[in-house]
Amino acid sequence: MAKHQLKTSVIYCGDNLEMLKEIPDESVDLIYIDPPFNSNRNYEVFWGDTQEKRAFEDRFGDAEAYINYMRPRVVEMYRVLKKTGSFYYHCDWHASHYVKILLDQIFNANNFRNEVIWYYKRWTAASKMFQRMHDTIFFYTKTSEYNFNKLMQPFSEKTIVAKYQRKVEEGRTVQDKEHLMERDPNEGVSMHDVWEIPFIHPVSKERLGYPTQKPLALLERIIEASSNKGDVILDAFCGCGTTLIASQKLGRKWIGIDISPTACRVMAQRLLDTFKLDEGKDFQLVNMLRDEKQLREMPPFEFQNWAVNAFGGIPNPVKVGDYGIDGRLYPIDRGKMKSDEKGLFGETDTDYPIQVKQKDKAGRPDIDAFQTAIRRDKRRKGYFISFDFSEDAMKEIRRIGKEGEIEIVPVTVKELLDKSGFEKE
Ligand SMILES: C[S@@+](CC[C@H](N)C(=O)[O-])C[C@H]1O[C@@H](n2cnc3c(N)ncnc32)[C@H](O)[C@@H]1O
Repeated sequence: MAKHQLKTSVIYCGDNLEMLKEIPDESVDLIYIDPPFNSNRNYEVFWGDTQEKRAFEDRFGDAEAYINYMRPRVVEMYRVLKKTGSFYYHCDWHASHYVKILLDQIFNANNFRNEVIWYYKRWTAASKMFQRMHDTIFFYTKTSEYNFNKLMQPFSEKTIVAKYQRKVEEGRTVQDKEHLMERDPNEGVSMHDVWEIPFIHPVSKERLGYPTQKPLALLERIIEASSNKGDVILDAFCGCGTTLIASQKLGRKWIGIDISPTACRVMAQRLLDTFKLDEGKDFQLVNMLRDEKQLREMPPFEFQNWAVNAFGGIPNPVKVGDYGIDGRLYPIDRGKMKSDEKGLFGETDTDYPIQVKQKDKAGRPDIDAFQTAIRRDKRRKGYFISFDFSEDAMKEIRRIGKEGEIEIVPVTVKELLDKSGFEKE
């Protein structure tokens, strides 16, 4: 039972599993989420090098791990949703069939309302299958007593012209076609569940450079259908904050959560640019770590958790005797790994170990100890996060890399904090 008071106009920066605990039971009218497939792999999207980015795109992924990751989070969201509330889960072919089963279990299959197909056109490379041009958005409600504002689908131009001709043929007095065109969009038919909304064009003004940004028009439609002015909207995976912008525009209250400090900063900037809303005055950024100083002062275990999460990994629950592995980043699908990506000792890597050191400069002995840990873990590659690395440490990383058996990737805290990381996209 959450004992907190509901706060709106808040962006919580952190893992939503934790942050959702700040939100009281049954206090939110509408939840929209658009989690990345295999949520723990943001690193590859935000900061990855080209090779890793390819890995992200190619990956078939492990649907079971994804569903296990999402389950406790969706349970929390179910808790905070009002009895009259609605829930929209945005996904695609990677996991939609598993997600439907998960949601049927949590919300009850009776409370499934729609599978909305968001159809968009985009440039695709020729391939030996039908082009993939849609996402899936599952719409559930908590009970059968839910708010829903019926939206209208304007008649197509073809229908309007046909209506006009029919009236002319029937000898009825009609005003000109233009008049009908102007009037009929308000009439239209009840909106159906296939939505054609253009993808954000790469050079559109709306586009912020955030790889998974969704169109405002999509969010506006969901918010208009499933909430009223003054209602509370939550997006627990809110990326660059499209849901917050649409909510603000439509006079709703909002709460955003994102684990990435980069995303939280982008959202704050977007609220300022779009509505002149000032952080600290008009809205709050909660748990946002702004600088290295704050991170240096954090208790070590907390720092480890922060670093692994900000990197896109999953923290290791074992804190003592973890043999130098503080978290794990999930790799590309094993089936698609090239033979030279297979693990040492004939094993296939199933994750990449992450080591965190809250040190000014990690040294050579730290790197050697991590190399031993990676080897013991039967892995080929690991990530080492620290404030900085000594010259000796960097030399050692290069030497190990040249040997060709194990690769250690150094990551600085600055990189995790640095906005420029995702602008490379
Ligand atoms: C696909 S993006 C959302 C894009 C968003 N719909 C928009 O239009 O900008 C998913 C977001 O979920 C965030 N995320 C991933 N795991 C998370 C977690 N456990 N808690 C909170 N946010 C998380 C990522 O940092 C990323 O920004």
